Amino acid sequence: MDILIIGSGGREHALAWRLAQSPECGSLYCSPGNPGTARLGTNVSLNLSAPETVVGFCRRENIGLVVVGPEEPLVRGLADELRKYGISVLGPGADGARLEGSKEWSKAFMQRHNIPTARFGAFGKRQLAAAFSQIDTMQSPYVIKADGLAAGKGVVIAQTIQEAKAATQAMLEGQFGMASERVVIEEFLEGIEVSVFALTDGKSFVLLPEAKDYKRIGEGDTGPNTGGMGSVSPVPFVTDELRQRIVDRVVVPTLQGLREEGVDYQGFLFFGLMVVSGRPYLLEYNVRMGDPETQSVMARIDEDLLPWLVGAAQGQLPPGEIRVSGNSAATVVCASQGYPGAYDKGYVIDGLDRLEGAVAFHAGTALNPEGRIVTSGGRVLGITATGDTLRAALDTALANARKVGYTGRIYRRDIGHDLT
Ligand code: AMP
Ligand code: GLY
Repeated sequence: MDILIIGSGGREHALAWRLAQSPECGSLYCSPGNPGTARLGTNVSLNLSAPETVVGFCRRENIGLVVVGPEEPLVRGLADELRKYGISVLGPGADGARLEGSKEWSKAFMQRHNIPTARFGAFGKRQLAAAFSQIDTMQSPYVIKADGLAAGKGVVIAQTIQEAKAATQAMLEGQFGMASERVVIEEFLEGIEVSVFALTDGKSFVLLPEAKDYKRIGEGDTGPNTGGMGSVSPVPFVTDELRQRIVDRVVVPTLQGLREEGVDYQGFLFFGLMVVSGRPYLLEYNVRMGDPETQSVMARIDEDLLPWLVGAAQGQLPPGEIRVSGNSAATVVCASQGYPGAYDKGYVIDGLDRLEGAVAFHAGTALNPEGRIVTSGGRVLGITATGDTLRAALDTALANARKVGYTGRIYRRDIGHDLT
């Protein structure tokens, strides 16, 4: 079967890496892809804002499965467009993608279906005074969120009432354009975070291995939030009992809620959870896999993933569970000095041929005119390794991250330390 993966990050490289190992995988295309995916298949440049280009490509190349990596094309309805032409696609339509595309809508959905989440209020452009009054009734810290997609930058955790009001005002005055025309202000939950992933065909679901990501740029969880500086899987505090509680309180009511509301959802669903005294609260939905969680999750999947993805896309998930290795996996992200702020690009990357027992998933890389791999983004590479224990996986990932060389390379040495 010929496959098209949409996206260009470490998540998409990891999906491509796993799918390329399937005996059923024919030609593998990525759009736009990156130098890492180019080694596994063919990168193609398709204009994602013109879905007919994608439809045309899929028909010409007889693509049997499209996997949409990032949320944005899903929110804009790419999957609907492909399905209209009978193309098999893994990823929800625009109706399902609202779970990520609008925080206000997703919080209201959680309320309608009794899914535990932080208490919240939602406010529009002309409701600044009401938003401020809500903040006045709350205690520090304050959580302020842009309603729409803001490339992972739309959440502010403010320590003081002044900061909270300033963030609210900035958002409502257009800091993120349309995405912050409305804001969600919610109660801060103190606990420990975990990412849980389901794959659903719209009727049934399977869980993928859970993971934990490390969002802050600095060691000891300091400094600004990033897209994620590393990940581990499994997450030792997720016992069978807690996982079952997450399924019963969050996953099942979500899928039932979607069905009740007439949303036919085929794809990955990512539950961003905060566990507070053993009880799971849902912080947010993502309608895709996590990055850099996917890199660690894919490293633990111990069978051919393709039949699962095809089954989900076609509304017929195979029976049973996905086989997962008992090993642990860890991913250490190598980023560019300055990230998540401004950083320079174009530095030659050395050492990728010296890795041992680890895989380098490309994220922000490019080829320069001489054909060498150079840095081209904030998160450059995810170095993923597995081991008998989390400690062993982390040590191998770190030892290999050290072998990768480029000007301004930064990485966190403490990924997973809270769990070992
Ligand atoms: P989100 O994009 O909603 O996942 O928010 C980004 C990050 O902000 C989360 O991964 C959490 O670390 C943090 N966060 C979001 N909402 C809350 C909350 N209600 N309480 C505490 N932390 C939160
Ligand atoms: N690593 C978090 C995310 O992908 O949203």
